[in-house]
Amino acid sequence: MVLGCGAPAIAANDSIERGRELLAQYRCGSCHNIPGVPASRGVVGPPLDAWGKRSYIAGRMPNRPELLVRWIVAPHSLVPGTMMPSMGVSPAEAQEMTAYLFSLK
Ligand code: HEC
Repeated sequence: MVLGCGAPAIAANDSIERGRELLAQYRCGSCHNIPGVPASRGVVGPPLDAWGKRSYIAGRMPNRPELLVRWIVAPHSLVPGTMMPSMGVSPAEAQEMTAYLFSLK
């Protein structure tokens, strides 16, 4: 967390907001439509709206936060041959992106 004054307790809302910024920073929206994230109107990948209500990731895995983190960090480790690229996202960053995506209902 670079913002704020270094308070150890990071509210869940801070993670969600930081996740939103990271999704924009990594340009996930060049391939995905992600509500609330600027310039996210891509149609290469599936839309990520209402993510919190989804049952599956890529139609293959249960939609659980720990699996979504792994998916964002290294999609090929879960689904060999997937067209979703590894974007160089760290596990900590993927965790915050996951917090944002699960907040989409
Ligand atoms: C070059 C295009 C591209 C970029 C950039 C990209 N993705 Fe994807 N993404 C895809 C494709 C294609 C799929 C479908 C993969 C499959 O089903 O095997 C996908 C699938 C997904 C899924 C699962 C969607 C579903 O309906 O189950 C999530 C979540 C996701 N991407 C998140 C991200 C995040 C977060 C980023 C940024 C770090 C990102 N993607 C960047 C192309 C992209």
